[in-house]
Amino acid sequence: MINNKILVTGATGTIGSFLVDRLAALGAQMEVLVRSRQQAETFAARGIASFIGDFAHKETLAPALVGVGKLFLLSAANPQQVEWQGNMIEAARRAGVPHIIKLSASCAGPFPHLPIKRWHYETEEQLKESGVPYTFLRPNCFMQNSLHWARTIREKGLFYLPVGDARVSQVDARDIAAVAAAVLTGSGHESQTYEITGSEAITFEEVAEHLSAALGKKVRYARTTFDESRQHMLEYGMEEWLAAAVTQTYHLMSEGGSQHVTDNVSQLTGNDPITFAQFARDHVERFLQRGQTLKHADSRQPAQVLN
Ligand SMILES: NC(=O)c1ccc[n+]([C@@H]2O[C@H](COP(=O)([O-])OP(=O)(O)OC[C@H]3O[C@@H](n4cnc5c(N)ncnc54)[C@H](OP(=O)(O)O)[C@@H]3O)[C@@H](O)[C@H]2O)c1
Repeated sequence: MINNKILVTGATGTIGSFLVDRLAALGAQMEVLVRSRQQAETFAARGIASFIGDFAHKETLAPALVGVGKLFLLSAANPQQVEWQGNMIEAARRAGVPHIIKLSASCAGPFPHLPIKRWHYETEEQLKESGVPYTFLRPNCFMQNSLHWARTIREKGLFYLPVGDARVSQVDARDIAAVAAAVLTGSGHESQTYEITGSEAITFEEVAEHLSAALGKKVRYARTTFDESRQHMLEYGMEEWLAAAVTQTYHLMSEGGSQHVTDNVSQLTGNDPITFAQFARDHVERFLQRGQTLKHADSRQPAQVLN
């Protein structure tokens, strides 16, 4: 008998929220793993069953995995993510879960100087070694990262980045979720690695032009040095490891490492990827409204790039 039950982890986050909406709209059989009772109640109010568990606590994971046909594995970037996701992979293996879809990062690899990509790669390797059939989803930089610029755009009409004329094939998290939903509800995706990008690699001058057009006011891209950018991240409370990891990602971008374009969004979802121009039009309120709370929002912080 085919088990169609999907367990979504990371369901309260950026991709996870869009994914839950998408799976609900498709009428998929879905449950979510959350870390608090309050989150569980929020999902229950929407008619979505949840389990309370935490990747950091192995003993909390098994109940959520009973009868699961596909597991969507996602957690936030964290120095302990390899251990935590490893706990979930091991629990899923023991539970006999037939397929794990892991949200990874574009060009994940064993790079000493790019910790987040290395951690994703290590988890990918662990998943391969576990013998559980897998699919890796490797998105490039999310368009949603630019929402962290809202305050400086509002107050100064600019955003700061240290990446020069780099082209980046940013992708909308809604498209990443759509790809995940297609894989979770489709078949034939085992042993596949999907690099997920937007349809074009654009410069941040072009990003500024799209924002200017959408917001109806001039938005400027202000170039900083890598050191200035890292200092600002630290000054505004970002943890040292994360500021260092983001800085390394900016180096990669400026060297052309984030400009590859794939057609996986259209191939897997049947729709063209959302362009940055469209993303900007869809988020005018978020860019212009006061009082938006973003985790690391500040007056001069570059976008968080957690890949
Ligand atoms: N931003 C980018 O440009 C980019 C690009 C490529 C790849 N990525 C990758 O995308 C992933 C983040 O995706 P996102 O932005 O959608 O996530 P997010 O918004 O940061 O949310 C993280 C989710 O993971 C859950 N979580 C965190 N720690 C957990 C734990 N110990 N046990 C169980 N659940 C846990 C969180 O639950 P709570 O609500 O309880 O915190 C939340 O639902 C990271 O792996 C990152 O490396 C990001």
